[in-house]
Amino acid sequence: MKQENKTYFYSLLNSRRSIRKYKPDSISKDLIQKILEAGMTAPSGKNRQNWRFIVVTGNKRNDYLKYSQKTWVAIKDILSKRLKPSLYDFTERFFYTLGEAPVLIFCYSVNSTDEKYLTSIGSVYMAVENINLAALAEGLGTCTMGAPLEIQDEVNEFLGITNWPEYKEKTIELLCCITLGVPDHNPPSAPRITEGRITWLE
Ligand SMILES: Cc1cc2nc3c(=O)[nH]c(=O)nc-3n(C[C@H](O)[C@H](O)[C@H](O)COP(=O)(O)O)c2cc1C
Repeated sequence: MKQENKTYFYSLLNSRRSIRKYKPDSISKDLIQKILEAGMTAPSGKNRQNWRFIVVTGNKRNDYLKYSQKTWVAIKDILSKRLKPSLYDFTERFFYTLGEAPVLIFCYSVNSTDEKYLTSIGSVYMAVENINLAALAEGLGTCTMGAPLEIQDEVNEFLGITNWPEYKEKTIELLCCITLGVPDHNPPSAPRITEGRITWLE
């Protein structure tokens, strides 16, 4: 790999942040499609490509806000113990507005008895991080959110997933929602601890 590509790759990884405040600029369907296709270059167990993405924009996105607010109610007590007050308030605002992100991408896994459950889930998350990085390369920001899982039955209903055959077969599962848009803040890097995370065996 060329040195400049290497440098760009690592700078991309190091500059990624979860973005929780967005400019009102809309994102074209073509660009969303391109980013999702980058997501789908990810590896997956037995190459099953078991990801499914639901892209939510416009009025449907606005209608989702009341669900996002419900997820805040479900997790705010845990966050009040973990976050300092200013960050807690900022996060609350994010859940109420989704940072004005114009695009929401709900990510699902289709699980089957042909594959280990955790492999199915991991495969979809491979695509999720590709999406985060492709968005960044396009000058956009994302935040991966597990919060919708707090009310996944309601979210499935809201998105119409409950009418899918995979839902009736109990094989489709919501994993996260990715907010996507043009960043309107530049948050500091969240601390990383590498100590104790790696074991070397020789
Ligand atoms: C699986 C997963 C679920 C997450 N869920 C949420 C969430 O519900 N709300 C939120 O604000 N951030 C959420 N995040 C973002 C993390 O808080 C964030 O990645 C972490 O604090 C590190 O910050 P960074 O992404 O800026 O490096 C989630 C991240 C992951 C990977």
